[in-house]
Amino acid sequence: NELHNNLRAKMKNQLPEAVFQLLKEIGTTATNSNTSVFLIGGIVRDIILGRPNDDIDIVVEGDGIGFSHQLVKDYGGEVKTHEDFGTATWTHPTGLKIDITSSRLEYYDHPAALPDVEHSTLKEDLYRRDFTINAMAICLDQKKFGHLVDPFQGKTHLEEKTIKVLYNLSFIEDPTRILRAARFETRFQFSMDDHTKELALISIDKMKALSATRINHELEKLFTEDYPSQALKRLFELQFWQQFGIQGSHLTQCFTHGQRLEEFYKNKHSYKTLDQKPSWFMYFLIPFYYENDLKGAQRFALTKKDNKLLKEISDLKAQDPWKHSSDMGELHQLLKPYSAESIVFFITNELRDDERVLNYLQARENLPTYLTGEDLKNSGLKPGPLFSSVLLDLEIAVLNDQVQTKEQAFKWLHEKIK
Ligand code: CTP
Repeated sequence: NELHNNLRAKMKNQLPEAVFQLLKEIGTTATNSNTSVFLIGGIVRDIILGRPNDDIDIVVEGDGIGFSHQLVKDYGGEVKTHEDFGTATWTHPTGLKIDITSSRLEYYDHPAALPDVEHSTLKEDLYRRDFTINAMAICLDQKKFGHLVDPFQGKTHLEEKTIKVLYNLSFIEDPTRILRAARFETRFQFSMDDHTKELALISIDKMKALSATRINHELEKLFTEDYPSQALKRLFELQFWQQFGIQGSHLTQCFTHGQRLEEFYKNKHSYKTLDQKPSWFMYFLIPFYYENDLKGAQRFALTKKDNKLLKEISDLKAQDPWKHSSDMGELHQLLKPYSAESIVFFITNELRDDERVLNYLQARENLPTYLTGEDLKNSGLKPGPLFSSVLLDLEIAVLNDQVQTKEQAFKWLHEKIK
């Protein structure tokens, strides 16, 4: 078991060489300072899973701030301390950053609270965390380097692909953990155990009391990872959307739309005007769209971009511009003001499969500019709103194949001026 739980070889294999060396150095300083230091949190989970993670968090049994100063003495670099929290960030000369916390405070708060003398404060630190898979530590002390500290069977739960809270009030204390659970479920393709899911369902109404900032912070991470449509669906099962007035009966439509959006970007990301991935906010808007309550999403539109997307999608939904329009030019007249991202939201709507709009988007991206403002001026037109209207008309003529060269564009312009 001792051997089984020694992760030294795994760490050496998986971590970048510089990180591995740095952790060993930290262990040397710990041993020389007669204190114990542990790698903790997500990186431990990811070492066991064999996934990269460059967030290095360590906890010092004792005075973390004092320890961070010792690291600077031993190896150089810079340290930034946060005295109130007993935490520090050490930047190694190579640029690697290490977050350091102390576990001494709890030691004085609760003497003898836990029977395991050796690691009692560490164990308390781990116990306060979200899930067992995130509540493991790896000892960095020279003699025990690589030794796994796993008081809550996190490793077993990793093997079982299970997300499990450490205590019943976990979600009540911090409802964002429900969104974290959904994130780890989709990222690793794990599931919460029945008890944890039950606790999530009992606590989900606490979500309503959270600020949009906190909710968005988690949702953005959730919808930016792989399988966003799966996450969208899971949030229905966890009654998340329902807290914001959305009915569970929209699940299938929303999931399909999410999948199509995901697929679209995977296959068609060659569009110049589209990013590699849709904005996370697009996935967020899907349930509000099918609920016919895009206004309900307004309080979550915190950035300029969110607001723009929300406004465009609300407008497009209200106008349904491509319902009647037939040729490219007409589509352009209606859709020119809208971003490709918002248009793609509609193309991926489960009710449409709009080749026409897709062709339009492609044509719009490759629209040649035969005439500039300068050309208009030289032809005697006065700069002003007229300019954009003439240029729009020209774009429409180009899209409808009425103008195909620069010469034809000039001819078109002169006829127009006449
Ligand atoms: N944590 C927690 N409750 C939260 C947020 C974080 O208990 N609401 C704990 C978890 O134990 C987590 C650690 O703090 O492992 C670090 O948090 P964070 O960096 O957000 O999470 P990671 O697990 O590293 O997730 P990721 O891999 O997505 O960075």
